[in-house]
Amino acid sequence: MSSHSREQTPEFTQLVEKSLSRRRFLGGAAALSAAAFFTVSPLSRAVAAATQSSPLMGFEPVAASTEDAFIVPKGYKAERLISWGDALFGSVPEFSDSDNNAQAQAGQFGDNNDGMSFFAIDDNNAILAVNNEYCNYELMFPHQGDNMSAEDVKYAQAAHGVSVLTLKKDNGRWQLVKDGKYNRRIDANTPMAISGPASGHALLKTAADAKGEQALGTFNNCANGMTPWGTYLTCEENFHGYFGHTGNGEIPAAMARYGISAEGGRWQWHQHDARFDLAENPNEPNRFGWIVEIDPHNPESMPVKRTALGRFKHENAELVVADSGHLVVYMGDDERGEHLYRFVSKGKYNSDDMAANRNLLDEGTLYVAKFYEGEGGELKGKGEWLELSFGKNGLTPENGFASQAEVLIHARLAATQVGGTTMDRPEWVAAHPSEPVVFCTLTNNKNRGIKDNQPADGPNPRAENHYGQIVRWRPENGQHTAAGFDWDLFVLAGNPTVHQGNLYAGSANITADNMFNSPDGIGFDKGGRLWIQTDGNYSNSGDFAGQGNNQMLCADPDTGEIRRFLTGPVACEITGLAFTPDQRTLFVGVQHPGEKLAKSHFPFGGNRTPRSSVMVITREDGGVIGA
Ligand code: FEO
Ligand code: CA
Ligand code: CA
Repeated sequence: MSSHSREQTPEFTQLVEKSLSRRRFLGGAAALSAAAFFTVSPLSRAVAAATQSSPLMGFEPVAASTEDAFIVPKGYKAERLISWGDALFGSVPEFSDSDNNAQAQAGQFGDNNDGMSFFAIDDNNAILAVNNEYCNYELMFPHQGDNMSAEDVKYAQAAHGVSVLTLKKDNGRWQLVKDGKYNRRIDANTPMAISGPASGHALLKTAADAKGEQALGTFNNCANGMTPWGTYLTCEENFHGYFGHTGNGEIPAAMARYGISAEGGRWQWHQHDARFDLAENPNEPNRFGWIVEIDPHNPESMPVKRTALGRFKHENAELVVADSGHLVVYMGDDERGEHLYRFVSKGKYNSDDMAANRNLLDEGTLYVAKFYEGEGGELKGKGEWLELSFGKNGLTPENGFASQAEVLIHARLAATQVGGTTMDRPEWVAAHPSEPVVFCTLTNNKNRGIKDNQPADGPNPRAENHYGQIVRWRPENGQHTAAGFDWDLFVLAGNPTVHQGNLYAGSANITADNMFNSPDGIGFDKGGRLWIQTDGNYSNSGDFAGQGNNQMLCADPDTGEIRRFLTGPVACEITGLAFTPDQRTLFVGVQHPGEKLAKSHFPFGGNRTPRSSVMVITREDGGVIGA
């Protein structure tokens, strides 16, 4: 949940007019030149009107909903796979609405499931690795977080991290195998190695780890990635709120850039666990904000924090093997005015020897994206990747960077130093399965042009952006390792029933029937359908009237058509998606139904505690999802 309705100030109206006056938003010329570059520009109403029967999508759209239900298209069914607190092991109690606890949680499915990946073993056996991003204290504790104890903090820590699940297909339906051989909980206290250029750096050393090579735990694991060698990547996002300073000591600027404060956030871990107290452990926050690699096939394996990928509030990690054989990882940093990144491995991917790829993510070059404004204010233009390497582009001791380790630990400062573009909260990145084109959700940014000095231009064209957009880029010569790219906007989310004739109505592929706000999770299936999940304002009023609960949509990247595929229960976010290789089963996450004590009892109904859940979607006729 991130966006809130706001009165439109004169200053806001002025910004809108200014942005309109320099744009030929719906103009034929802009549409034609965009069409010459991408198959079709969804920014042209004329073109979009001609594309209402996508050959990729065969399902009937679902209407917006405010029901406390998970609603899929006609001919589809949705069943519950697992919910927060379900036991992974026979020795562990199932979730209790009244007295669940740390000990039980250690062997139960974690809370707030987010990104996930499906690892097929064979046609009927598989592993599902799922992030457990955070908790809702208001649902977890009778005191709703107002009276946290050390024991409560332990419970919360056990609910975070990653759950690795053994799945089996029985009677055509994927189910959890209790005590399955891959079942594992990784939480905020699981030992993990720190590898790559920042491993062992002084800024990563703590009293408990004098070498700076081994951290405890991972938390606020937002979205994910999957390597071609069969490992899972879990991405640490909003790590700042878990830390505080009981002595109210000063927070160094480099930490403040990540939102670390003396008073700490809502989690209050620093008051009960000295590891999170900067008075005791000033370097502990530097050990979070990384991407962690997990081998889901080996429950004994130690997860590894890959520092070469940089430290920021990671959303997901989208991996592509470039034509050159280098591994390219695209990554968003989800905060208003932060950046979009790319990593290119030094070594090449070896498809004949999976073990040889194991440390491919330890050496390579990190870049930040710079987008250039389109000519005449068109919503498309050029861009380039700026290198974040020590000694280059001003990343020198004079500017506060003493080594590559420091560039990576302070990746945000490095990105500012080289002039990366400040974006409207980069969330997930998804690369097309067969074309060299990449998409990134920019979920929203209420501050743009209002509380910050960032111009509303380029791929972030709206001041006070409540709705979000999806930018896409095509790397130069179709090579993901290239220095440059061409960008355009695939969609500007908006509300054409509230706003007309300006950018807040949304782009031409947004209608009263498919509108949404705050695109977040995205991913392609093998057939080239783009799936879009939302984490937006579900008030269904004001700017968001008619948009209902959070939802998942399907888009045809060629025609620009977008169709609503499902709607989630009350006060949830829809996040996390994984397909089986045959594309006949889709796993989708329902996160925090009933947050802030909103009226939800999903998925069990009655008076039960609402619980985050993973849903399994199939077609009644057994067909390919979406087709
Ligand atoms: Fe955890 Fe950016 O969403
Ligand atoms: Ca997200
Ligand atoms: Ca989000």
